[in-house]
Amino acid sequence: MIKHLLSMDQLSADQITHVLDTAEQLRSVTDRPIKKLPTLRGRTVCNLFYEASTRTRISFELAAKRLSADVINFSADSKSSVAKGESFKDTAWTLEAMGVDAIIVRHGSSGAPHQLARWVKASVLNAGDGSHEHPTQALLDLFSIRQHFKDFEALKVAIVGDILHSRVARSNVKGLVTMGADVTLVGPPTLIPAQATRWGATISHDLDSVIGDADICYLLRVQKERQNEQLFPSLREYAALWGLDSRRQARMKPDSLVMHPGPMNRGVEISADVSESPRSIILDQVANGLAVRMSLLYLMLGGDRPDSTETVRELTEQLV
Ligand code: CP
Repeated sequence: MIKHLLSMDQLSADQITHVLDTAEQLRSVTDRPIKKLPTLRGRTVCNLFYEASTRTRISFELAAKRLSADVINFSADSKSSVAKGESFKDTAWTLEAMGVDAIIVRHGSSGAPHQLARWVKASVLNAGDGSHEHPTQALLDLFSIRQHFKDFEALKVAIVGDILHSRVARSNVKGLVTMGADVTLVGPPTLIPAQATRWGATISHDLDSVIGDADICYLLRVQKERQNEQLFPSLREYAALWGLDSRRQARMKPDSLVMHPGPMNRGVEISADVSESPRSIILDQVANGLAVRMSLLYLMLGGDRPDSTETVRELTEQLV
């Protein structure tokens, strides 16, 4: 298995399938009264978050704890020495000196996890870097899709909204295209980057012409915090043209699904009733994030070593 997970570019279809299959086996642990495995006992995992997060930070913390690792949570806020001007590099070396085995990093700058991986000996997992990538989100999304559709090659996925600022879109397109899915990026011309034509996806600006054919409508959050200029006339117009409401959802195929990485702007990219409809798997995505992140920590921190005598199935039969 790879040492660092920085981008979905690193993973072949076989490697993605291995991560998802391992997650499937580890998921059974979460249904037990005692939800812990001894695999990472004695290892230390650090959550290094320079940007806000609820889902990713908590599920990485829980995943590491379920595998018996020690967990350090570091937020670059007023309580850390980042507030006194300590650099990213000095922070990285400080963590390294404390002997961490893995650093989960979220940073507002694209490429920050790549830089970190050059500075430290620990494994680095990208938990979202600027508008670049969010590979663990893509893996949990692929896991969630696979629970409903066994064949990615027959799948039509519409990824809708603010593609320009979305690390989730970039990682998902790479993952879905690698697995053979047919991806259409939908949004206003100002929110689809020019280079998206080279990503292996089709581009559309008309959700109504795409929605009836999609097996999955994957909505993206409008990232108001990353927009320095007015890229569409108003949120009201955005919702009317590119939002998924119950009227538009009624035109989707009967077995189609609605996905969103969260957090949602209800009433903008997705209406409240659609987000809570039977076809929405948004909370399944959150739940599956735990199993997928357990799988990555297990595979990357040594549970899958060639000299390991335990299979993941034998491992899940153990209790702490
Ligand atoms: N989907 C996602 O990355 O959510 P958080 O920002 O809450 O981690």
